[in-house]
Amino acid sequence: MSDLKIFSDSISIEGKRIIVRLDLNVPIKNFNIEDDTRIKVVIPFINKLIEKKSKVILITHLGRPKGKKIQELSLNPIFNYLKKNLKGKVYFYQNDLDDRAFKASSNLTKGEVLLFENIRFFKEEENNDETFAKKLSGLGDIFINEAFSCSHRKQASIHKITKFIDSYGGPILEKEIQSIDLIIKNKKEPVTCIIGGSKVSTKINILSSLSKNADNIVIVGAMANNFLKYKGLNVGASLVEKGSENIVKEINIIAEKNKCNIIIPTDCNTALNIDGNPIYKSLKNINSEDMILDIGKKTIDLINKTIDNSNTVFWNGPAGYYENKNFSVGSLLIAKKIAENTKSRSLISIVGGGDTVAAIKNTGLEKVFTHLSTAGGAFLESLEGKELPGIQVLKKN
Ligand code: 3PG
Repeated sequence: MSDLKIFSDSISIEGKRIIVRLDLNVPIKNFNIEDDTRIKVVIPFINKLIEKKSKVILITHLGRPKGKKIQELSLNPIFNYLKKNLKGKVYFYQNDLDDRAFKASSNLTKGEVLLFENIRFFKEEENNDETFAKKLSGLGDIFINEAFSCSHRKQASIHKITKFIDSYGGPILEKEIQSIDLIIKNKKEPVTCIIGGSKVSTKINILSSLSKNADNIVIVGAMANNFLKYKGLNVGASLVEKGSENIVKEINIIAEKNKCNIIIPTDCNTALNIDGNPIYKSLKNINSEDMILDIGKKTIDLINKTIDNSNTVFWNGPAGYYENKNFSVGSLLIAKKIAENTKSRSLISIVGGGDTVAAIKNTGLEKVFTHLSTAGGAFLESLEGKELPGIQVLKKN
């Protein structure tokens, strides 16, 4: 961490144009923001830049428009949100990256904000285009990467831009990196990782890597079905990934070699379809039509006990099909237990991933954790030990 250039209060910014790359890639439906977590967490920092009388230029992407201007992926809803929540006047720049853009940034007065339209409307962004990045850097005097969750992308507004402008990491980016160290490097053992979600194939690298670093790995969510099936249990009509046997076998081998406990569900809540009501079942009684959609009470007890015996817990991925409230109980109870122990036993708790955040939305629990990461892929890649291109370019020379 000490080898990274991190933005600090000692840097004088009054009157300076500060480009801040954010990740405001939030779910938007019918032009309404469905989850504002990613915006909420960066508002205090932007307001601080405003209070310090800098001129702020905000850059983010939304979705994957692949270089085309798509109306549904315009930042208009985000512009309206920022207008309500930022302390300075906010302008929205929707034209090309040409003289008009430079004029718009130069015309800003102290404490004003310019939001640049979805940066992925320009194909040069994803191509990490040098000329484009150079032009983009011309909008400001200082660049701050406050988008840890995009830092695994080698794209112009994250990566190449740093070649042309004095660049720093922002405070939340710094916190995200520190929290990874809390799981891997400066860990307070025993460490338990609770990994859920639907696809085991997307998490093979992270599971292999955590098996080498953690004391316990608890597998939940649809991913656990693959582990249950591998053990010879009937999972009925539950989601199982084709060809997952080898992945599960490999993870078990690595875990055994590193004396890491793999804990899988012992009971569950099922339904005949994803919109159904929960039917509690032991794993011995699963019929061919049953779908396992959440963990059961004995599994929750087992997880609670494991959390009680841990000093660090990392949780990524929901424990069930939380989109149907009936099956969000497992995720909510895990969140509650982690929050309780964080408060009462100084448990170090790191909770992350878009779906995990969505599963515990509006519970208030998210404020209690040691760190709530809004990053998905970037966080997992970092945990695997990969150096992210957007972070690598922030290193001191
Ligand atoms: C995310 O939502 O994880 C980030 O915004 C990155 O988005 P991407 O996967 O489209 O690059």
